[in-house]
Amino acid sequence: MNMLNNTHDAACVEGVALTAIAAQFGTPCYVYSRAALTAAYASYQTALEGRNARICYAVKANSNLAILNVFARLGAGFDIVSGGELARVIAAGGDPAKVVFSGVGKSRAEMRQALQAGIHCFNVESASELELLNTVAGEMGRRAPIALRVNPNVDPKTHPYISTGLKTSKFGVAFATARELYRRAHALPNLEIRGIACHIGSQLLDPQPAADAAGRVLELVDSLAAEGIALQHIDLGGGMGIRYRAETVLPTADYLAPMLARLAGRKEVLFFEPGRSLVGNAGLLLTQVEVLKHGEEKNFAVVDAAMNDLARPALYDAWHDMVKVGAGGTAPAGTAALMGTAPIQARRYEIVGPICESGDFLGHDRELALAEGDLLAILSAGAYGMAMSSNYNTRPRAAEVMVDGDQMHLIRRREEVAQLFALESVLP
Ligand code: LLP
Repeated sequence: MNMLNNTHDAACVEGVALTAIAAQFGTPCYVYSRAALTAAYASYQTALEGRNARICYAVKANSNLAILNVFARLGAGFDIVSGGELARVIAAGGDPAKVVFSGVGKSRAEMRQALQAGIHCFNVESASELELLNTVAGEMGRRAPIALRVNPNVDPKTHPYISTGLKTSKFGVAFATARELYRRAHALPNLEIRGIACHIGSQLLDPQPAADAAGRVLELVDSLAAEGIALQHIDLGGGMGIRYRAETVLPTADYLAPMLARLAGRKEVLFFEPGRSLVGNAGLLLTQVEVLKHGEEKNFAVVDAAMNDLARPALYDAWHDMVKVGAGGTAPAGTAALMGTAPIQARRYEIVGPICESGDFLGHDRELALAEGDLLAILSAGAYGMAMSSNYNTRPRAAEVMVDGDQMHLIRRREEVAQLFALESVLP
């Protein structure tokens, strides 16, 4: 889904023109649509109607408090991977009792923090974590609620960096040892077994691997039940893909259908941990063309967003569609001389940022009619965009704005340079 519309002869998000957002808050700027967030969440609710299911938004995809708050108001739970994310969920009004805690390297301090907050469940990923959690819970005089994250060894058919359910992956406990670990957990005094979890990867377009994984998980659940270890919930992770380019993306209900078919009639509560599919297409990155360079081999459009703002192209060679959403003010002299007064012609551009690395690109080979000062919207940037941004090259991170109907709300101020080194000090 493209969150842009052209209602008022201008590119708008809901009722607000992107030119107005750029004028008020500057660029680069992430722009989100509350309606798009809500619609994505509703698609899960509809798909899961009649099931005893919980949607735990994967905070890592986009952890802005306003985004978390929108989901908290819709009744979501949260999938977290750090104490920092737990603090955000609580600050945003989320309910800790609806939190599941994933991740391969939880620290003692994070375990204590999560036990104190009363989260629903730790998704434990190793034998050592199980023992440590038992110890930490014991020291606090509590019992830690747990699920084991199992690795079903299913190929999710996605980018290797975001594929997590294969034997070779660092995630989860091997299927073959899971039963043994459940027995161990059952025997430990300070643990309370609640469920089982699995997550095989991200940006999944084919629903079959997730359905196969669910099938494997069910075998384990049933054999554990036969031994007297009963599980209350089955957490199927996240992973549903979104449309970035021309991918065929199934509607949420169709993607979940094969998995839900396998889970028909089960008494366990079903948990899902979607990230990208809730926020990815509900956000874009607004950027301005700074400089056009027409080289012998290539044309470059240097924009004011860079790999520090959106790392996905540099990191995964990911594609993000781009559209021109506003014409520049007065084009600088250089461009005017090059272009003359004729209408701007479309060229094939490398869309790059100002960072001193060749890997700093946002798109290759994009046919666009550009002038300096133009505004570009980089689409499908709501997930793993701002969340993975950095201050590389001492670049203040972008502002974030959420549109709600005809209102725009600044949900994160643009950073200021002085803040970037405020925690540093020189030698005496
Ligand atoms: N649950 C667990 C345990 C996960 O590791 C992840 C994502 C999710 C849920 C959410 O998956 P989603 O629904 O968003 O696919 N930075 C990469 C994506 C990394 C995903 C990591 N784990 C990217 O930009 O494509």
